[in-house]
Amino acid sequence: MISNVKVSVIGAGHVGATTAMRVLEKNLAKTVILLDIVDGLPQGKALDEMEASPIEGFDGELIGTNDYKDTANSDIIVITSGLPRKPGMSRDDLLEKNVKIVKSVTEQVVKYSPNAILLTVTNPLDAMVYTVKKVSGFDDSHIVGMAGCLDSARFSRFIAWEAGCSVKNVNSFVLGGHGDTMVPLTRYSTVSGVPITKLFSKERVEAIIDRTRKGGGEIVKLLKTGSAYYATSSAICQMVRAISFDTKEIMPCAAALHGEYGVDGIFAGVPVKLGMNGVEEVVEFDLTNEEKILFKASADHVKELCNKVDSLKLF
Ligand code: NAI
Ligand code: 2OP
Repeated sequence: MISNVKVSVIGAGHVGATTAMRVLEKNLAKTVILLDIVDGLPQGKALDEMEASPIEGFDGELIGTNDYKDTANSDIIVITSGLPRKPGMSRDDLLEKNVKIVKSVTEQVVKYSPNAILLTVTNPLDAMVYTVKKVSGFDDSHIVGMAGCLDSARFSRFIAWEAGCSVKNVNSFVLGGHGDTMVPLTRYSTVSGVPITKLFSKERVEAIIDRTRKGGGEIVKLLKTGSAYYATSSAICQMVRAISFDTKEIMPCAAALHGEYGVDGIFAGVPVKLGMNGVEEVVEFDLTNEEKILFKASADHVKELCNKVDSLKLF
């Protein structure tokens, strides 16, 4: 069954175009708009993908455009426009350039889709979600960021390799900001319900956590010209599906915090119940003291980035 929603993807680069393709092929939306500032790029990619539809068997429409009018009345807007990092760069190095792009994109999309759920992907993720909130003024329930789903997918993949089992047996959760301070929760990360702390040695758990924290950088180093987009677009689709089919799945997303997990006034990765109304609940897991300290350190780093955004005085 195809979902009747309209999804607009801003940025027709690696992440945006792959996301549009996956949304269509998974029947997550009837209409998908792919928008970029580069003339011809979204139109060319959209036509190419539409020509795959007889083979892939999807009935949704993908429209490539440079005009925000085409995004009007979107239910979900996925913001991927902005620079990716190059080898040697951290996500934080992208802040000054991407904040300006994300600001101008947000101003445009909210004009045409005042009720949309704004799903941000551009890095540095948590600070860009904060920017989208500041510029749009939308209710917190309609502001969400994708990072935890990708970080958790990486964590799950590495756990399944370690256990030598199917990924279907693995569940994992990574909270906090999308960066070196992210907080993989080992007690809530399981193979067939058994926490990985009971299955693997402390050294192996530490090695898997370290690889997860550096997962984005590992791919940048290999690609040399950009960052990850296959798993990224899958993670975005996991969130789009929860919203478009109102599944109320609980997944780690960047959401507004007002005292939950002891943090106030920023967006950071926490377990969120996602449905047609966007962020329907921030779910509070019981954290150990050690996990609380790690989460606080991660949130403090996100706060520093948001202060940097504020210091630019763009809004
Ligand atoms: P890319 O360079 O392939 O694509 C970016 C696209 O944005 C380009 O086509 C460019 O023309 C477009 N763009 C730039 N300014 C624009 C504007 N003002 N309006 C509309 N479009 C504009 O980069 P890629 O690989 O697609 O990555 C996009 C962003 O996603 C980067 O910031 C990257 O760091 C981030 N990212 C975030 C992840 C996460 O977990 N949150 C994971 C992977 C990437
Ligand atoms: C990633 O984690 C670059 O944030 C991007 O792959």
